[in-house]
Amino acid sequence: MQTDFLVIGSGIAGLTYALKIARRYPDKKIIVITKTQADETNTKYAQGGVAGVWDEDKDSFEKHIEDTLIAGDGLCNPRAVEIVVKEGPERIREIIEYGTRFDKDAAGDYELGREGGHSEHRILHHKDVTGKEIERALLETATNTANIEVINHCFVVDLITQHHLGYLVTKSTPDITCYGVYVLNLRTNKIEKIVSRTTLLATGGCGQAYRTTTNPRIATGDGVAMVYRAKGRIENMEFIQFHPTALYEPGVSPSFLITEAVRGDGGILRNKDGEAFMERYDERRDLAPRDIVARAIDSEMKRTGTEYVFLDCRHMDKDKFLHHFPNIYEKCLSIGIDVMQQMIPVAPAAHYSCGGIKTDDWARTSIQHLYACGECASTGLHGANRLASNSLLEAMVYGHRAYLDIVKRLEETGDLPGLESEAAIPDWNTKGTTDPKEMILITQSQKELQQVMSDYVGIVRNDVRLERAMKRLDLLHVETEQLYQTTKVSPQLCELRNLISVGYLIVKGAQFRKESRGLHYNTDHLTKSAILQNTIL
Ligand code: FAD
Ligand code: SIN
Repeated sequence: MQTDFLVIGSGIAGLTYALKIARRYPDKKIIVITKTQADETNTKYAQGGVAGVWDEDKDSFEKHIEDTLIAGDGLCNPRAVEIVVKEGPERIREIIEYGTRFDKDAAGDYELGREGGHSEHRILHHKDVTGKEIERALLETATNTANIEVINHCFVVDLITQHHLGYLVTKSTPDITCYGVYVLNLRTNKIEKIVSRTTLLATGGCGQAYRTTTNPRIATGDGVAMVYRAKGRIENMEFIQFHPTALYEPGVSPSFLITEAVRGDGGILRNKDGEAFMERYDERRDLAPRDIVARAIDSEMKRTGTEYVFLDCRHMDKDKFLHHFPNIYEKCLSIGIDVMQQMIPVAPAAHYSCGGIKTDDWARTSIQHLYACGECASTGLHGANRLASNSLLEAMVYGHRAYLDIVKRLEETGDLPGLESEAAIPDWNTKGTTDPKEMILITQSQKELQQVMSDYVGIVRNDVRLERAMKRLDLLHVETEQLYQTTKVSPQLCELRNLISVGYLIVKGAQFRKESRGLHYNTDHLTKSAILQNTIL
């Protein structure tokens, strides 16, 4: 298969870009690939909403910029922050035009929510299921766009670079180039090649590297791992954000999120003794940035010997709660918790990857013809800790910027360079591989990986734990590579391999960072270094 525009991922990032390219070039075909159903994305599960300066009487770009910089704890790229905050409202208007329905008040104005780290109410939302509404609107628009083909159940295994054409590629090769991807077509169970002049990675996050996560099964860091294998640049993977309030439901995965907007509307965190403990940790109390709240909860759980704390909503107005959070109300009721009568047991869960594939202002990666945006990318916006509800915004802004860059290149050169024919690319080599005999070899290793990452590379880290994690990851890596060399590829095997790479990148980044900053908290290096550094691997 051959195309000019290949998009990996059907979440907010991939679809924003695909729709723009499709409208600009109606005679060109855009292929969007997704590994399961098109709507099974992190995007679909977003609850709180999209941050953006909307009410210019009360809010301002300066305030949103300041809040983002404070949350990022010194490591945000100020240019990226300015770009996202200033271009964000225009992108929000576009998804409204695509049909996204954000909640409005009686006067017809958008209702603006508030979350941790925000100094103003600026979160547009659709009840507590904002992501589902955005994904619906984007996907419906994409499926009704004649020149977009969305291919489901198509698993991207690897990027095709010079390496596959027989050239030696090292990390100092200046012009590593992406010619497309190898995919496992899950309908035929065959590996196919898709040759493309431009490829955009929008593969989302990697929460599945941890035992407890809010991320769905698809979030296995595939894009980051593929770029790392292709010797592209990866940045700041040590900054994994733990959401403070995932519903505590042992044995249930992924964890159901209790949006931070509940605290924005007055929800209070309490420990097992009923104490509103956030007062002891930060003057912003329950609405401090996420790294601070998650660490405070972790510390309370350890101090009191419990596996959760409580979110108290009993004092909140029932009608207002039902209006804003109907899904949370129903979910809690389904497990016997009436949030108006009982407190909600919550615990932190891996939620968001602030680092990722290093990209520039135009979503370009270090690999030629390869763009990345959304959660898999590291644009510099989040620094050491992401401000709540900034990620949907970032995905749209850089999806748009990738599109602008392509338009500019086409206007300048009239064409996009690339391979003329897929014949130059060898077929996938299955020699020496057999069908997998025991899936348990894969599933057990994934559980081990998640255990290691949760126990040693969680909210609080130290040097010994990181060293232990690295040793165990090394072993898992060796065993999994042996399996990969001898077994026919399956999504499960590829995901395990990708998660091990992502785990390695998180641990390696954490080992390099000899300080505590934002989401990276190491008890052996508690002070902040005077030198601001991004970790590039
Ligand atoms: P995704 O939406 O995750 O899409 C990834 C796509 O890549 C999928 O289509 C997947 O199939 C595809 N893919 C991945 N690997 C492969 C492969 N190997 N082959 C083929 N396809 C592949 N952010 C906010 O700003 N506000 C919120 O309120 C908010 N709430 C959240 C609540 C929850 C529970 C979660 C989990 C996240 C939340 N976030 C929120 C974060 C935000 O939802 C994500 O960062 C964002 O949606 C990521 O979008 P994306 O387009 O980059 O990736
Ligand atoms: C939430 O609704 O609390 C999640 C928001 C986010 O991750 O940005």
